Amino acid sequence: MTSDTQLLDDPATGDALADSTSDASLQRSIARSAQIEADLEVHPERYRMLTGDRPTGHLHLGHYFGSLRNRVALQDKGVDTFVLIADYQVITDRDEVASIQERVFSLLADYLAVGLDPARTTVFTHSSIPALNQLMLPFLSLVTDSELRRNPTVKAEQEATGGRPMSGLMLTYPVHQAADILFCKANVVPVGKDQLPHLEQTRVVARRFDERYGRAGDRSVPVFPAPDALLSEAPNLLGTDGTKMSKSRGNTIELRMSANDTAKVLKKAVTDSDRHITYDPAARPEVSNLVQLAALTTGRDPLVIAEEIGDGGSGALKKLVTEAVNEHFAPIRARRAELEADQAHLRSVLADGNARATEIAEATLAEVREAMQMVYG
Ligand code: TRP
Repeated sequence: MTSDTQLLDDPATGDALADSTSDASLQRSIARSAQIEADLEVHPERYRMLTGDRPTGHLHLGHYFGSLRNRVALQDKGVDTFVLIADYQVITDRDEVASIQERVFSLLADYLAVGLDPARTTVFTHSSIPALNQLMLPFLSLVTDSELRRNPTVKAEQEATGGRPMSGLMLTYPVHQAADILFCKANVVPVGKDQLPHLEQTRVVARRFDERYGRAGDRSVPVFPAPDALLSEAPNLLGTDGTKMSKSRGNTIELRMSANDTAKVLKKAVTDSDRHITYDPAARPEVSNLVQLAALTTGRDPLVIAEEIGDGGSGALKKLVTEAVNEHFAPIRARRAELEADQAHLRSVLADGNARATEIAEATLAEVREAMQMVYG
């Protein structure tokens, strides 16, 4: 067994996280991601993908075009798909848990409405999987507190809490995220760039588990495979005021919004003083963002759309975007309304997902116990 000092002094592992945010490392992740993307077309059966969201609010068009749509595409390609609702992660920085329940079911309704199919995709709440959470203990033995303090995402999260003291859960949530990914031995994790340090932490945990505790059963393979990030090309969709789309800024269009409310939000969208519409994201972010939204929802080229509107001005642009968004999301919204009205169905979907995740987590925990020589009778 490796001693603590060896673990801490190992320069190869000690700097793994700091390196995960460097440019060279980002380039490597992007290249690796492109390779996987290509292989997925030919061998979807080689992949198990897992990703997830915190149940903090209602999903909006940024989520849809940035990630939800890709998840459904992966599912439809035949990739074994896991989507987790990270309810424990919500309590890293919040005291108030009263409405978690409602947010969880709202998130689930969003998932199912956009096309995640419970027959092919396992949707689960990580708090409901005891064996997953139990992995946290051996995993915590494999990381150091300074490594966690250096994690850029932990730092950013802490800054966002306005200098409140950091909870132990906040400090260690990257390790919990490693348990989220490794419990089912997912090998691809579609995430945004901001999550790369977590992925690197997960890879480090997988490798150190093998180095320190060893293997179970078939000794030629480590217990945990090292997962890769899948950094899919995501359009940079802004909010209706031209800044980052985020619920707290009130500049989002939510999946669940009515056609009427969508029209209202878009009517107030910020444009600029040049009446002639063009698509030029660098020089005209607000106008171009609306053009892009029309392009994404109609599947057309933004340059062509802008040219067609031309001197029609922002009035014509807003009218077109509103129609395009409402038309594209009408079936999704109708389905979502049906789902929301059938809480019993939502509960049974989650119960099934949690049962499947529990079965897998228990099998993995059994291997972990064997590798750690903690099987007693
Ligand atoms: N940390 C992620 C977020 O804030 C959510 C998440 C939790 C997650 N566990 C995960 C994402 C595992 C990918 C894989 O968005």
